[in-house]
Amino acid sequence: MGDVVTSVQIVLAQHCNGNAKPRLFGGQLMSWIDVVGAVAARRYCKCQVTTVNIDNLTFLKPAYLNDIVVQKARVTWTGNTSLEVRVDSYVERDDKERELINTAYVVYVALDENERPKKIKEYVPETEQEQEEYAGAVERKILRVYRSGPVKL
Ligand SMILES: CC(C)(COP(=O)(O)OP(=O)(O)OC[C@H]1O[C@@H](n2cnc3c(N)ncnc32)[C@H](O)[C@@H]1OP(=O)(O)O)[C@@H](O)C(=O)NCCC(=O)NCCS
Repeated sequence: MGDVVTSVQIVLAQHCNGNAKPRLFGGQLMSWIDVVGAVAARRYCKCQVTTVNIDNLTFLKPAYLNDIVVQKARVTWTGNTSLEVRVDSYVERDDKERELINTAYVVYVALDENERPKKIKEYVPETEQEQEEYAGAVERKILRVYRSGPVKL
């Protein structure tokens, strides 16, 4: 299993809408996803990275004011200069089991001192679960080609 980066947040008033029962803004969750994913990518690449693509931001379940949001990020695939990170976001409430609210796949590009893409070390999946994720990442890369056009395979 690749290194897992964990982030924990409490949903505060400034993270929520003004509903009678305040809910976490989707954009706030996206921001937290990008940050924890970037930490996983930077630790792997040992250099600066930039986000180029985020897949699948279906919000499966809400998070509310004062909930605890736990996120787990890990590298699933590498190309030459880009890498994919899976970020799972969960909500925790005192009276309930931890629930998955979102799974996102984020692609980062490693950057050199001149802000140009930089070659990174190859990620080799080991466990069966990692190999399945890796195979899925290859399929997601093909889908990104169709969606974004300029992606190089
Ligand atoms: C990331 C960036 C430096 C890449 O520069 P570039 O000249 O397009 O470089 P390349 O075409 O060689 O692509 C570099 C890698 O990015 C990948 N890539 C580029 N666009 C992509 C996309 N939309 N989705 C997935 N991967 C992408 C390429 O496949 C390539 O991967 P590989 O080296 O592993 O094969 C440049 O596109 C950029 O700065 N984008 C803005 C990123 C940004 O500012 N993000 C913050 C949000 S505003």
